[in-house]
Amino acid sequence: MEPKIHVYKDLQELSLAAADLFVDKAAHTIATYGRFLIALSGGSTPKPLYELLAQAPFRDRIDWDKLHFFWGDERCVSHDDSENNYFQAKQSLFDYIPVPEYNIHRIISELEPEDAAKDYVRVLKDFAQSPYDWPRFDLVLLGMGDDGHTASLFPGSPVDVTSPTVAVTANYQDRPAKRVSLTPLVFNTARCVVFLAVGKEKAETLAKILNGEYHPQLLPAQRIRPTDGEIIWLIDEAAAVKL
Ligand code: 6PG
Repeated sequence: MEPKIHVYKDLQELSLAAADLFVDKAAHTIATYGRFLIALSGGSTPKPLYELLAQAPFRDRIDWDKLHFFWGDERCVSHDDSENNYFQAKQSLFDYIPVPEYNIHRIISELEPEDAAKDYVRVLKDFAQSPYDWPRFDLVLLGMGDDGHTASLFPGSPVDVTSPTVAVTANYQDRPAKRVSLTPLVFNTARCVVFLAVGKEKAETLAKILNGEYHPQLLPAQRIRPTDGEIIWLIDEAAAVKL
């Protein structure tokens, strides 16, 4: 399916639109399937979205105990480290909403990446939807790095991965290097993938990803192409200047 691209004035407007989208998807999915499976992203861009969801009016429009939270990737540091993706979501969202703790499926980031990746495979299996060994996520939130990475799929990493999770070592903007990531196998079975990207630093790479040739090795965000789901880019005007 062709990506849908929506451009907003700034991160604040974008986050409001993302919160509306989140609430609508949750309501429709819960009405159909009785639950809503979501994979969150790390990075700085989704933080205002998480903060909006934690407050009225959005908070009151969501049936929180029907949501199950997973992560597209995690940084292998303690679960109360400010660099930890689960911790970011806890501080900006979970601490303010009535979601049962057993609906939060964090990646065990205190383990070595290989072990954490294996453990996460087991967690995903519990929610598997045939013919896959993992759930079909109703919503996947992803970011994009200035270098074209997404989740913890970095330029130069193997493209033809056959496992649902991978252990990764990567240095990017002084963020923790040991990581665990879902792979395109899982992302591409999602019902909906939403990328959030802002800032002029991302403009050139974004144009290559969306309008350039297909170079999945160099531009991992291009590896994300849901086979039977939609893909939506929410970006700001600064990131859109080269489109
Ligand atoms: C992470 C991410 C990563 C992030 C991008 C964009 O854990 O670091 O999941 O893929 O989304 O690096 O980060 P920003 O939103 O900070 O630009």
